[in-house]
Amino acid sequence: MGSDDISQTMKVISKKVLAEETLSKEEIIYLLQLEESPNRKALFDLANAVRCDTLGETIFIKGVIEFSNYCKRECAYCGIRASSKIRRYRMDPEEIVKVATDSARHGINTIILQSGEDPFYTTEIMSDIIKKIREATKKPISLSIGERTPEEFKLFKEVGASKCLLKQESVNPQIFKSVHGFDYETRISLLKILVLLGYVTGGGDIIGLPNQTLGDIADDIIFMRDIGIKMVGIGPFIPTKNTPLENHPIGSVDVTLNAYACTRLAIPSVLLPSTTALATIDPNLQYKGLDVGCNVIMVNFTPAECRQIYNIYDDKRNVEFYQTTRELLKRKKRLSPSILKALERKEVV
Ligand code: 5AD
Repeated sequence: MGSDDISQTMKVISKKVLAEETLSKEEIIYLLQLEESPNRKALFDLANAVRCDTLGETIFIKGVIEFSNYCKRECAYCGIRASSKIRRYRMDPEEIVKVATDSARHGINTIILQSGEDPFYTTEIMSDIIKKIREATKKPISLSIGERTPEEFKLFKEVGASKCLLKQESVNPQIFKSVHGFDYETRISLLKILVLLGYVTGGGDIIGLPNQTLGDIADDIIFMRDIGIKMVGIGPFIPTKNTPLENHPIGSVDVTLNAYACTRLAIPSVLLPSTTALATIDPNLQYKGLDVGCNVIMVNFTPAECRQIYNIYDDKRNVEFYQTTRELLKRKKRLSPSILKALERKEVV
């Protein structure tokens, strides 16, 4: 590839990234719209280089436990929204602690506790679960349980949670309000509070929501950069049966991959998963994400009978620990020593 194939804009952007200067909204939009071309390859190579320079080559593996699919919200895109006529389950606190403890034996880097917004798990119950898992595993615990009060999140941090995922889904208030039945200002202020509380805080958005432009996606990236977000989950919209958006088209894979690369350039040290939503479209795409700036894969440790019905979107791919680690090693990806040790013990490689 000769440098003549690279646009002037791309050259300016590359220089700015290398000089650690801040990219403008227009520059991010330029990157988001790139189609297969030498410029797009340059973007992906740059994102990959920034990842390796900032955080090394390791792909981090986080384990997700989806402990309840009850949800009091009505997000228009989501298969477990309150009014969905689906089978519901709740794991007992003891079972959650047991599954988390087992998952930790696989050497995973973080335990993610994920659920719908389920008030069954009161402040006390949730605190107790976190405390016991932390005591038993010493692993970082990440919460992905929707909104709670700042006081609850403060307490959860005191008892052992250190990370928290709460996607803004869209920082454009019109888009946010059109798909969520709850308050935009609360969501945005809560994200900022999580950062202030000292959580390693995760944001993120869905690519392909109704009326979303590339400018909106650029705004999401800039918003996350500016408020101190350290983990970013971005996935393509997946149309899901019996939801208000069942006939809305699937989100663009190309824009999703470009958004990964842009997020890496905008927030160099970000923990950036190549998401299950992408794997749901095609497992190879999830591995492709790891070549364009992503450095995390989330594997699922939810007990099988629950996992089948945790369908936040249709045909959600089961990203499984052994299969995923095998594929990663086959693709010459570097994994942490704790994962390699666990694999050796199981003699699966
Ligand atoms: N398509 C893509 N992502 C979805 N999510 C929920 N439903 C969908 C869907 N239909 C994402 C949201 C949520 C996360 C748990 O899953 O971003 O925060």
